[in-house]
Formats: sequence, structure tokens, C-alpha cells
Amino acid sequence: MARTPLTFTLNDAETGVFVVPGSNLLDVLRRGAGDLTPKQGCAQGTCGSCTVLIDGVPHLSCLTLAETVEGRRIDTTGGLAGGPDLHPLQQAVMEGFAAQCGFCTAGMLMAAKALLDRTPNPTRDEVIEAISGNLCRCTGYEPIVDAILTASARMQGRTA
Ligand code: FES
Ligand code: FES
Repeated sequence: MARTPLTFTLNDAETGVFVVPGSNLLDVLRRGAGDLTPKQGCAQGTCGSCTVLIDGVPHLSCLTLAETVEGRRIDTTGGLAGGPDLHPLQQAVMEGFAAQCGFCTAGMLMAAKALLDRTPNPTRDEVIEAISGNLCRCTGYEPIVDAILTASARMQGRTA
């Protein structure tokens, strides 16, 4: 099948790929752009493990038509750290044992990043709401919520 060109910004990098029309963004990121950080869980829009940010807004990349991101910005956990140091969210998740199998973690981190970008000091309920579309079968969610609140506090110069 003929492929069409697609360009977008992926974690600060101008990215160009050729895609089969109708491809979903998750496949294009993983197979076309080589970013394996978004995970495929259900591939049906249920689990949230494939969550990426499109122009700062969380989207399920398994349900997003790749053609719709032409010229837009995609953020994944592949670009979260932005250097040798972990992002505060990653650091807090690691310290708080908020990842067990880790399969949900990339999606959780992106949902949390979107929250902290728009609401730097969220309430616990706001954190719970922000990750409500992201399923975790391992942790019981409490360590994840605690880690997001810890990261928020550190990013604001507060102690958690
Ligand atoms: S893989 Fe996209 S929601 Fe589960
Ligand atoms: S840590 Fe295993 S699904 Fe969340």
C-alpha cells in the first residue's frame, strides 16, 4: 500500500516518517519513529498505557489516526527527562516504588505531566481524576498518586 509522508515534532526533534493511511499514532511512534516508550496494552482505548501528549493534551495514541498529528507536537516519556537527570515525576515514581511491572508507567507519567503543566499544585482528587483513564493492575494506585504529589511539591520548591 502507498505510504504518505508525515512530519511532526517528537520530544523537540523534527521527525519525518512515511505512514500507511489509517495507521494509528502508537504504531507510527514505535515502528516508524523508533520511540518505544509509549506502550501498547489493550490497543482498544481502555488501558491508557499508550498515552502521549499532543500539543500538551493527553491522548490515547492507539486510537489516534497518525495523519491527524501532521505539524503538531508529540511528547512521550522518551523526552521527559530532557538530560541526564530524571524528571521529578520519574524520580518520585522510582523512589516511591510506584512502578511494579511498569507497563502502565509511561502512560501514567504523561497523564501526570499534563496535569502538572496545567495545574502545578493539584489536590489529591485532581491527581486521581487526571490518571483515571490509566489502569494499573499492580500498585493499587496509592503509590502513584503519592509520587505525583511528591513531584508537584518538589517542582514548586515545597516538601511533600
Ligand atoms: S493501548 Fe491504548 S488505551 Fe490501551
Ligand atoms: S505497575 Fe504494573 S500495571 Fe502498573
